[in-house]
Amino acid sequence: MTTIRSRLATSPVARAAALPLRTGMIARHDARVVGRSVDWLVRGRETTNLTYDLDPLNREQLCWFVSAVSGAEVGQAREWVTELEDDQELFDHVVASLSTHPRRGIGAREPHWARRLGWYALVRALEPEHVVETGTHFGLGSCAIAAALLRNGHGRLTTIDIDPQAGYVIGGPWADVIDQRTGSSVELLAGLDDVDIFLHDSLHTYDYETAELGAVEPRLSPGAVVLSDNAHDSAALSHWAERTGRQYLFFKEQPARHWWPGDGLGVAWNGKEPA
Ligand SMILES: C[S@@+](CC[C@H](N)C(=O)[O-])C[C@H]1O[C@@H](n2cnc3c(N)ncnc32)[C@H](O)[C@@H]1O
Repeated sequence: MTTIRSRLATSPVARAAALPLRTGMIARHDARVVGRSVDWLVRGRETTNLTYDLDPLNREQLCWFVSAVSGAEVGQAREWVTELEDDQELFDHVVASLSTHPRRGIGAREPHWARRLGWYALVRALEPEHVVETGTHFGLGSCAIAAALLRNGHGRLTTIDIDPQAGYVIGGPWADVIDQRTGSSVELLAGLDDVDIFLHDSLHTYDYETAELGAVEPRLSPGAVVLSDNAHDSAALSHWAERTGRQYLFFKEQPARHWWPGDGLGVAWNGKEPA
C-alpha cells in the first residue's frame, strides 16, 4: 500500500490521484463552518458587532499579548482576564439591560467579552487616568473598561459615538466613571486631553481610522498606548505607529464555536520596552 502511494505521489498523475484526499480535507473544513453558521442562524440573533467567546488557546495567547505589551507577568494577566469573566455583578447588569433594549430582537442577550478581555487586562495593567474609546455601540466595551477602572480605584473613560442611542447598557456603578459623548469622533477628540489609552472602534475604514489617529495624536500623554479594534482589516494603526516611531503588535481573535473568523487587536506604544 505504502509503495503504491509513494509511487503515485511521484508519478505524473499524482495531482489527479490526490483529488479525493484534497476534497475530503476541504469538505471537513467547510462542513464545520456550515454547521456553525446554521447553528448561529437558528440560535443567534445578532446582525452586527458580533459577540462570542475566545477559543481556550486563543484566550491564553491574549494573556501573553497583554503581558508582552504591558510588562506584567503572564500569570497576572490571566488573573485579570479571569476577573472580568467572573464578574457576575457586571454580567447580570448587562443581561438585564440588554433584555430591555429596543433592538433586543437583533442584539446580544448576554456579554461574551472576547478581545474586550484584553482591553480590560490592559487597563488593569497600565492603570491609566484617562481612557478614550471611539465607538460605544451598546456599551459592552465601555462597561468592561469601566469595571477595570473601578478595580484600579482611579481613572475615567470617555466614550464617543455618533449614534445618540448608543451606550444603552451603560449604567449602575460603571456609569460613574464613564463620560459619554455624542458626535463625530474626529471632531470630539480635538476637545480631549491627556489620553493614556486610546481605542479606535468606530468607523472601520483606513481613512477614518487614520483621521482619528491624527486627531488624537496631540492629545496623547507621553507614554500613551493606542489600540485599534480594526487591525485585522486595516494597516492604519501600524502605518501610524511606523510614522510616529512607535512599536506595534497585533493579536488575532479565534472565536470558539462560531463561523466568524474573528476580529483583531492592534496596539502601538512608545519605546522599545513594554508600555
Ligand atoms: C463596532 S461598534 C463599537 C463597539 C463597541 N466599542 C463595543 O465594545 O461593543 C462601532 C460604533 O461606532 C459608531 N460610529 C460610526 N461612525 C462613527 C463616527 N464617525 N464617530 C463616532 N462613532 C461612530 C457606530 O455608531 C457604532 O456604534
